[in-house]
Amino acid sequence: MSTQPTIHTFDAVIVGAGGAGLMAALYASKGAKIAVISKLYPTRSHTGAAQGGIGAALGNVNEDHWQWHAYDTVKGSDYLADQDAVDLMCEEAVDTVIQLEYMGLPFDRLPNGRISQRRFGGHTNNETGKPVERACHAADRTGHMILQTLYQQCLKNNVNFFDEFHVVDLIRVDDTIRGVVAIDIATGEFHIFHSKAVHFATGGWGRCWEVTSNAHSLTGDGTAICLRRGIPLEDMEFYQFHPTGIFKLGILITEGVRGEGGVLVNSEGERFMERYAPTIKDLASRDVVSRAIFLEVQEGRGINGRNYVHLDVRPETVNYYYEKEGESRRIDAAYIEEKLPDIADFTRTYLGIDPVEEPMPVQPTAHYAMGGIPTDVDGRVVVDAENTVLPGLYSAGEAACVSVHGANRLGTNSLVDLVVFGRRSGVDMARFCQENDLLPLPDGAADEVQAEFERIRNNQGHTRPFDLRERMQKLMTAKVGVFRVEERMQEAIRELGEMREAFATDIVIDDNGRRFNSDLMEAWELGCLLELAEVTAYSAVCRTESRGGHAREDYPKRNDDEWLKHTLCYKVGDEYRLDYKPVVLGRYEPKERVY
Ligand code: FUM
Repeated sequence: MSTQPTIHTFDAVIVGAGGAGLMAALYASKGAKIAVISKLYPTRSHTGAAQGGIGAALGNVNEDHWQWHAYDTVKGSDYLADQDAVDLMCEEAVDTVIQLEYMGLPFDRLPNGRISQRRFGGHTNNETGKPVERACHAADRTGHMILQTLYQQCLKNNVNFFDEFHVVDLIRVDDTIRGVVAIDIATGEFHIFHSKAVHFATGGWGRCWEVTSNAHSLTGDGTAICLRRGIPLEDMEFYQFHPTGIFKLGILITEGVRGEGGVLVNSEGERFMERYAPTIKDLASRDVVSRAIFLEVQEGRGINGRNYVHLDVRPETVNYYYEKEGESRRIDAAYIEEKLPDIADFTRTYLGIDPVEEPMPVQPTAHYAMGGIPTDVDGRVVVDAENTVLPGLYSAGEAACVSVHGANRLGTNSLVDLVVFGRRSGVDMARFCQENDLLPLPDGAADEVQAEFERIRNNQGHTRPFDLRERMQKLMTAKVGVFRVEERMQEAIRELGEMREAFATDIVIDDNGRRFNSDLMEAWELGCLLELAEVTAYSAVCRTESRGGHAREDYPKRNDDEWLKHTLCYKVGDEYRLDYKPVVLGRYEPKERVY
């Protein structure tokens, strides 16, 4: 049974209420009538899980420059990031962080009243190669504080919120955007949001993997919708594994722990990062540290013979000093409680481990998509290798690929990305809405997606979504994980194809109702995850080199002659087609990365 959707009209709709969506909404609302549509209550968005800090070269603790931040970002990206976008992000980061402070974000303070900054992986003094304090932080709840601050600002600016509305389709007519289709989760009713512009800030898709730091809601909906509506996805083979997720659970233990002196230790009690990154050690970039943990485990040095190592921040073993009241002090229990309260709370709650007394068991956890919906530096979605803009369509944050992270993102740069490009996209979207008219809705704008929901609701197959999801997550972990090889990825592609077929023909759910039907919504989300997993595997098998987060056993070296280029993956019918576009180079010539 399909009923007529309720129609709402706005200048622009923003899908997702994490940091990127809220920042875009705040700036767009200064010049246009904006709706933010979110499947969650806004302050439950996943930006809240970004713990350790937001990078900006304020130089409050030690000398720093935005150009050093830019170099570290390009080097961290294994030279795949577009250098014009990186320069812009790192320069604007400084002003954006100060602006967040003016909005009321409660950053930690230094004794002199300036914003406190800590060390983070891959952020260096470019002259010495040693770690530099660049991560501005609010204890280990930085993302959470960004969300709270921006949400309050959006309410003050009369942004319209549609909470617990789940966007399931984009209304695109040729090369124009007309709005989105959403379901009100409480009633199961369809709604059309008719608009001049649409912005996807829907976050990542870590739920493709078994052990992940990503919340249950991180299913890549906006990215999958764009793929289905003819937009290519960029650099999907580059997926980041954060080195320190809680063993088996995947919950993030911030890199800020290592920034505050914490060290990684194997079963022999060895600080093994000294072998892999002699200068920067535990604060090497994430791809380097995750691979090191994987290799330690593979060579039998996992703790208790299992696939984890220890992260040790016990004051008695960690030789780390901080400045207070003009004195250098060794970290102690009170310092850990003050700087890392959430981490201490998580490990006590989930593991019964007090990090002041015992080391924490950690393993790499699926964390962040470097790739996504291709955009320019104003968040405008581009649809080909010539960077042709699709007018009225925007994206920012993890859902998007600008590209500032290239093959590997540095810690803290996700928050920088979402505030800088959230703001820029909001400003440009307001301009677009002022310069363009609202185009009419096509007939039956919601028909296709309504029919798909009826199919999932009523199909009488034998395949349960949760079985399929578990199979996909195990497969992606085993075959498209930290290390990759042709044969395993080909198997993954074949099995994902079978799963997609099962989803299309044999799915069955238990709840046929309409109100709060999470069974139905999760089944639809699984369809998104399956497609994004396929695009990831397909893009990965075709890139015959190793770079950043894409480490191939059969092609262990980076190959700039053939592969210094971005992947674009299109969906054509049930097939995928690849194209490539050049990387924007700049001041930094690609060279071998040494940490
Ligand atoms: O380690 C962390 O606190 C995570 C931050 C990030 O992904 O940027």
